[in-house]
Amino acid sequence: MEVHRISIRSDETLSVEDGEQASIGGGPHLIRDGWRARSRLAIMSSKRISTMHFSQFSSPQGRHLISEKLEGFNNIYTELENIYDKRPFDQQSAASLLQLWLLVMSGKPMSIFELGTGSRASTIALALAAAEVPGCTVYGVDIAPRDFRGFTASHFPTLQFGSVVDKAVEATTFAIPDEWERPILMFYDAHDGGLPGKIISRHAISSWFPKLSGQTVVIHDCLVLPNDAPTEYPSPYHGAIHWSGQKIIGFAEVGPLMEWMNRERIEFWQPGEELAKLGFPMAESYLIAFTAP
Ligand SMILES: C[S@@+](CC[C@H](N)C(=O)[O-])C[C@H]1O[C@@H](n2cnc3c(N)ncnc32)[C@H](O)[C@@H]1O
Repeated sequence: MEVHRISIRSDETLSVEDGEQASIGGGPHLIRDGWRARSRLAIMSSKRISTMHFSQFSSPQGRHLISEKLEGFNNIYTELENIYDKRPFDQQSAASLLQLWLLVMSGKPMSIFELGTGSRASTIALALAAAEVPGCTVYGVDIAPRDFRGFTASHFPTLQFGSVVDKAVEATTFAIPDEWERPILMFYDAHDGGLPGKIISRHAISSWFPKLSGQTVVIHDCLVLPNDAPTEYPSPYHGAIHWSGQKIIGFAEVGPLMEWMNRERIEFWQPGEELAKLGFPMAESYLIAFTAP
């Protein structure tokens, strides 16, 4: 197998031994167009779940609504970049916010478990969708969540959000409350070692996932590549192989999470692929979704 070596140069360009180059904006970035195109081919040719998850949006009206939402999320993302004076997170984009919105609109959860509220970009997408699903509440879990109401009142005063309830807690001490109404959608976006010594994935596997049996879990920062993709990645990225043969590149948690998915034979699907099936380019997609066993 051909081995590619990737390194980050001081001008923040991802360079690859075979001469391929990709600009990476504000920091290490998982995107490499060549690999992404090949990754799509690998997925199309592998035995994957063939259901169309966002089929309710396949009509011309549905696609028109998606176009409008994408434009809205582009505006929101531009505003977030102005607020933070940079792109809040490299693996996040208007397209990924749109995918979160679609996940809520298609799954109609009553509870959304948002692990890692950070810049509040993901909360904005989830809470905009929650406003359209009667009874839906976003439960944000973060060691130090930014005040959502105050933040959105100053920066996004015209947007209508659903209910957001934050819990300021270290994730590995958090248990999913029995009273959370089902269906539950979990959005997993906090990293092992994000707080020194805290391995969230271990807690997720032993405490949260058993309680989420039959529910949808979406993990952020997972780039899906064919299994002959590079074997070395710049820090802080890690690689793991899913039993389908695909390689997942992400942060430290991808190792334990893929080990668990392999043990349980859990399939995943990509919201970005689903959006592509509706005719929207699969730009910058790093979400994978699965049903907890
Ligand atoms: C990648 S950011 C989340 C990004 C966010 N979804 C957004 O859209 O901006 C990760 C978040 O996880 C939180 N975090 C990391 N480790 C944690 C832990 N062990 N317990 C609680 N929160 C943690 C951090 O405070 C940070 O806000």
